[in-house]
Amino acid sequence: MGSQHETVAAVLCAVVVLGGLSVSNSQLSPTFYDQTCPGVYVVVFGVVWRASLSDPRIGASLIRLHFHDCFVQGCDASLLLNSTADGTIVSEQGSLANNNSIRGLDVVNQIKAAVEFHCPATVSCADILAIAAQVSVLLDGGPFWRVLLGRRDSTTANITLADENLPPPFFTLDQLKQAFAVQGLNTTDLVSLSGAHTFGRAQCRTFIGRLYNFNNTGVPDPTLNTTWLQSLQLLCPQNGDGSVITNLDLSTPDLFDNRYYTNLLSNNGLLQSDQELYSTPGADTRKIVKLFSRNQSAFFANFTASMIKMGNISPLTGSQGQIRLHCNFVNPATYASVSAGLSYKKSEDVLISSI
Ligand code: HEM
Ligand SMILES: *[C@@H]1O[C@H](CO)[C@@H](O)[C@H](O)[C@H]1NC(C)=O
Ligand SMILES: *[C@@H]1O[C@H](CO)[C@@H](O)[C@H](O)[C@H]1NC(C)=O
Ligand SMILES: *[C@@H]1O[C@H](CO)[C@@H](O)[C@H](O)[C@H]1NC(C)=O
Ligand SMILES: *[C@@H]1O[C@H](CO)[C@@H](O)[C@H](O)[C@H]1NC(C)=O
Ligand SMILES: *[C@@H]1O[C@H](CO)[C@@H](O)[C@H](O)[C@H]1NC(C)=O
Ligand SMILES: *[C@@H]1O[C@H](CO)[C@@H](O)[C@H](O)[C@H]1NC(C)=O
Ligand SMILES: *[C@@H]1O[C@H](CO)[C@@H](O)[C@H](O)[C@H]1NC(C)=O
Ligand SMILES: *[C@@H]1O[C@H](CO)[C@@H](O)[C@H](O)[C@H]1NC(C)=O
Repeated sequence: MGSQHETVAAVLCAVVVLGGLSVSNSQLSPTFYDQTCPGVYVVVFGVVWRASLSDPRIGASLIRLHFHDCFVQGCDASLLLNSTADGTIVSEQGSLANNNSIRGLDVVNQIKAAVEFHCPATVSCADILAIAAQVSVLLDGGPFWRVLLGRRDSTTANITLADENLPPPFFTLDQLKQAFAVQGLNTTDLVSLSGAHTFGRAQCRTFIGRLYNFNNTGVPDPTLNTTWLQSLQLLCPQNGDGSVITNLDLSTPDLFDNRYYTNLLSNNGLLQSDQELYSTPGADTRKIVKLFSRNQSAFFANFTASMIKMGNISPLTGSQGQIRLHCNFVNPATYASVSAGLSYKKSEDVLISSI
């Protein structure tokens, strides 16, 4: 708890000190809300921090939402849209990688409500996911970076694309590289972003394929540490409950550090997609894993760069899309022409009448 207080103090200082610097970039900007919602980072921080007190996993769940948003028609909060009765929107939340797996949607709605209270109809849900991802990393001991902002929210979702673009845990290294290349992310990005598996949990069903009959060989995955294999087999019996969860990082489960990479060196990556980064013979990813395992600063620096790169995937900007008033719904058509200047009361009415 003490360290969390220190983290809060540190981030508030960082926001104040760094707030004065200007960074040039393509379309998104770290100063995007400086005039219209200067407190947005602190508001998001407050809600995530409060949630983390009762749910130590929430940071992991939130960063994963940003990833699953960005890989499907860009970082546009399409992931957050609920299905509609008329079938115009089929929620991405039902896709293979998301169904019965993603968490934290309720906390995102809490964040949105708090942000709407402070700055009505100003901050997009896509930006909220990006900020929540950074706050989560910081709260759990990882690096700070200035989040680029100015994304707008989509009015569409695409479950087909979610099924196509979100990589499953049994992909080979070549398939993983390809899935990232499609998004403009290279091999270094793949290795550094996979380091997000330094916290959070995974269900038995996502790695049970390694425990008994790996790839139809009749034996467990030879690249899974035999000591850990035994406890994972106890946790996940064949034909058992596939929704039982365990820590992705067996050494420091709730900390954002570089232990993910030291785990890989001792065959303790949980998912096949994790261990392959190190155990694929001759792979170019091996030396990156080794570097990150011995130098946490190098990991943090590269992770930060890759998160910014991921956050830049095809954002809607300018007058594209909209600032959703409720993250689960496209704004009601009657308000489509109303962009700025909504009073909170008015936006609250819109929300209530639209739900
Ligand atoms: C490289 C390809 C990736 C694959 C195949 C993959 C796969 C998975 C799987 C199967 C789970 C467990 C889900 C469940 O059991 O319900 C998971 C969890 C997680 N993933 Fe990934 N992932 C990948 C990349 C990433 C990236 C790029 C990030 C973020 C930058 C990320 C962050 C997380 C986090 C934090 C969790 C834990 C979530 C929680 O505890 O709620 N993953 N991932
Ligand atoms: C969106 O759909 C989910 C189920 O997929 C449901 O739990 C949630 O309540 C819905 N959101 C709202 C605001 O109705
Ligand atoms: C999601 O999983 C539930 C079972 O928990 C299932 O009933 C539902 O059909 C699944 N959704 C999709 C879109 O596959
Ligand atoms: C979803 O994306 C696919 C491309 O994979 C495209 O063919 C399809 O038209 C899109 N569907 C919707 C509903 O936008
Ligand atoms: C990946 O891209 C980054 C810049 O975005 C670059 O610094 C790095 O060297 C690239 N890595 C590979 C393996 O090409
Ligand atoms: C699984 O088996 C197939 C065919 O036997 C092979 O091509 C593939 O490389 C194997 N995958 C792994 C991860 O060993
Ligand atoms: C298996 O993991 C333990 C730590 O959990 C480690 O001491 C041991 O060296 C690992 N074995 C192999 C073969 O990497
Ligand atoms: C670790 O990486 C950082 C950042 O890239 C670098 O400045 C530092 O010199 C590295 N430390 C060692 C011991 O190699
Ligand atoms: C890490 O980041 C540095 C600086 O952006 C870059 O030069 C390097 O190629 C990246 N990748 C690795 C594996 O260090």
